[in-house]
Amino acid sequence: MAELLFTNHVEQALDRAVDTLAPSGVFVLTDSNTASFVLPRLQGISRAVGEGKAIVIPAGDDHKNLDSLSAIWRELTEKGATRSSVLINLGGGVVTDIGAFAAATFKRGMNFINVPTSLLGAVDASVGGKNGINFAGLKNEIGLFSDAALTIISTTFFNTLTSQQLLDGYAEMLKHALISSQEMTARLLAYDITGYTPEPLLNLLKENVGVKVHYVEADPGDRGCRHALNLGHTFGHAFESMAMERGTPLSHGYAVAFGMVAALILSHLELDFPTEWLNRYVTFVKENYGGFAFDCRDTDRLVALMLHDKKNTTAGRINFTLLRNVGQVEINRPASRSNIRAALEIYRDMVL
Ligand SMILES: NC(=O)c1ccc[n+]([C@@H]2O[C@H](COP(=O)([O-])OP(=O)(O)OC[C@H]3O[C@@H](n4cnc5c(N)ncnc54)[C@H](O)[C@@H]3O)[C@@H](O)[C@H]2O)c1
Ligand SMILES: [Zn+2]
Repeated sequence: MAELLFTNHVEQALDRAVDTLAPSGVFVLTDSNTASFVLPRLQGISRAVGEGKAIVIPAGDDHKNLDSLSAIWRELTEKGATRSSVLINLGGGVVTDIGAFAAATFKRGMNFINVPTSLLGAVDASVGGKNGINFAGLKNEIGLFSDAALTIISTTFFNTLTSQQLLDGYAEMLKHALISSQEMTARLLAYDITGYTPEPLLNLLKENVGVKVHYVEADPGDRGCRHALNLGHTFGHAFESMAMERGTPLSHGYAVAFGMVAALILSHLELDFPTEWLNRYVTFVKENYGGFAFDCRDTDRLVALMLHDKKNTTAGRINFTLLRNVGQVEINRPASRSNIRAALEIYRDMVL
């Protein structure tokens, strides 16, 4: 696993890491938003970033594609990057995913440092070695497992994120809590992420990212117990796809927040997950995220979307990550079709 550093002195950590790597050149990848919100803040105080050559791609997951990847490779070539150069990925999950993939493949692999600037990037996307791009209409279709030389996690850059962007990342933090501990879950359900202060949030992140690190180290290739990290994602991806079909896209974090409601209901039906925790989580989601609305006629479509999600199906069975209790995970559980439908009906009663 890549080294992770938690600090709000990003410039010092970056300069030290770059000094240690002694690269032939420094390149800094941002998207069009982090180019204006984040890059100027570091250029003045970090020698490495100040001297680095900037590469900018358009913002948004739609641009995590072959065109942007090719533009990055081209700029690296034209600006004289070599195999012993370093690429600093300064941005959200899109920048760390595509930047890591570009670096890992450029001249058979150059070093890269991830500096996540979104909460989702800090808590999820920049940790764990997965990178890649979307291709042929499929999310993360092409990519590699490849470790950063260093990932620097800080809360310094979050003050230009919207509340919605904070809540997006917070859904993955809640997921980490639900799969690991009642105590952490209770604390996160009482925390106000949109009113965070930097140092306490950094401490929270350190603990919370530790949950992902635990699973990544136990299952680096994502073939077994790392599936615990899929909690809420089977339902969540179906909600995301349905929202896309309606032309009103739902962000990934919100979809996961709602997906975990359905997953906890299904956990109750299949494994007797306690109603007390279910109610506490649902109350938090309603207050902070609202709900994803669908009617009973949409249930068939949602089941069909889950069946199309190849990652979660084997021989026509839909597999779920479920909880017996908070902190007690059961992976690859093929739920009965009637319970899946029942979970969606109960979701409508509870959330809408
Ligand atoms: N590799 C993995 O394991 C993994 C895990 C989870 C998600 N992901 C990927 O991560 C991506 C989602 O991550 P994301 O939500 O960070 O997306 P993102 O990179 O698109 O960032 C969201 C938005 O916030 C902006 N932004 C980022 N930092 C900012 C800042 N400090 N101030 C203002 N605006 C800022 C971005 O420009 C973008 O518009 C998806 O592509 C997803 O597939 C990867
Ligand atoms: Zn996710």
